[in-house]
Amino acid sequence: MLETSSALRAAAARVLEDNWLGSSTVPSRGLYPHQWSWDSAFIALGLRHLAPERARRELVTLFNAQWRDGRVPHILFNPDTPAEAYFPGPGFWRAGRTSGLIQPPVHARAVWAVHQADPVGSDTDTFLATLYPKLKAWHRYLLAHRDFGGHGLVSIVHPWESGMDNSPAWDEPLSRVTPADPGQFTRRDLEHGAPADRPTDDEYCRYVRLAAGYRDSDYSDVHWPTEREGFTVEDPGFNALLADAELALAEIAVALGLPAAAAGHRESAARMAKAMTERLWDTRAGFFFPLDVRTGKACREYTCGGLLPLLLPDLAVAPALLSTATGPRFRLGQVLAVPSYDLTSPSFDPAKYWRGPAWANVGWLVREGLLRHGEDALAHQLRLDLLNLARWTDFAEYVDPLSAAGHGARSFGWTAALAIDLLADERAR
Ligand code: SER
Repeated sequence: MLETSSALRAAAARVLEDNWLGSSTVPSRGLYPHQWSWDSAFIALGLRHLAPERARRELVTLFNAQWRDGRVPHILFNPDTPAEAYFPGPGFWRAGRTSGLIQPPVHARAVWAVHQADPVGSDTDTFLATLYPKLKAWHRYLLAHRDFGGHGLVSIVHPWESGMDNSPAWDEPLSRVTPADPGQFTRRDLEHGAPADRPTDDEYCRYVRLAAGYRDSDYSDVHWPTEREGFTVEDPGFNALLADAELALAEIAVALGLPAAAAGHRESAARMAKAMTERLWDTRAGFFFPLDVRTGKACREYTCGGLLPLLLPDLAVAPALLSTATGPRFRLGQVLAVPSYDLTSPSFDPAKYWRGPAWANVGWLVREGLLRHGEDALAHQLRLDLLNLARWTDFAEYVDPLSAAGHGARSFGWTAALAIDLLADERAR
């Protein structure tokens, strides 16, 4: 148990040191031994307080692997890691040193925060000027190539792209995917964690089938979604993070002396917020549900992704969403941090990956949302929960929101990094 804030900060800094590869950070030495896209953004938020140049390096390394079409790959493989350490590795993806999927676009928010931690060093490195066009290309890829629904929202084509792999919201669309033959691959994740805490074999067979289908179409966003067996879903979590990232890009554009561009980013965020409210908001439920673009039906499960639109400062439905967040399904302020799934559902599982446990990054994002809507008391409690959970569990990947038991990997990158960030944050203390 780490009794003081300075002991917690030092232990978290040690995690980031141990997970550092030289130009990026692994989420976990055992389970995730490469660079992951949204992990790196959250890790940079903590690194900026320890070594801003390392935080900048983390993000620049990731963006150096950006594809020509603008996509930022969800994994950048470390060539020194043995091939058998992780599945699916580079041999599966056949895309050089990266995967071909994406993850939620939290990067612009991280870039802006990293800049603010050390503006002088950032300017010397031309950090914002280097990353702004890359971030713009990333967002352009999402809005131009991934709007399969045609209403200004991004679709994900694989559960992994949501970052919330086995969220119950994906069960229905995933049920229409034919599972791959389990004899075709060996799961490596089970060597590092309790199988009961990880997605099931059946889910993995469907993940592999979808990823192989997208790969075999050369990661084409024109041809793949027309295939019979795809997965095409508008996720409120992903889209809220993109709208927030557009607001961060506006701040970056202002800093670069580009006011007209900044106004364009703000308009884009407002358009997305409007489209989300029109397409994904369910008034009777008081919640944002993902939309399955193939069937036109909502994936009516209360998952933590549906809370992320709280990040949008002008969200008209925020009071109703807050009421769901503090109600029986998530019990914000009454349980520890933010459960990833509906506490009232019979299939809520407090230990299983994205089907119940609380995650540090979601807690951090929801706290940001609470602060933006003036919910300081809840934000204060959430900060304490996140710090205590990191402290009690050796920076577990995810935790039981009822008992505080740690699950998944320990010494997990973003759990440590976000603890450092929260320790430095003076808001709602
Ligand atoms: N989160 C997935 C994994 O567990 C894919 O990025 O490996």
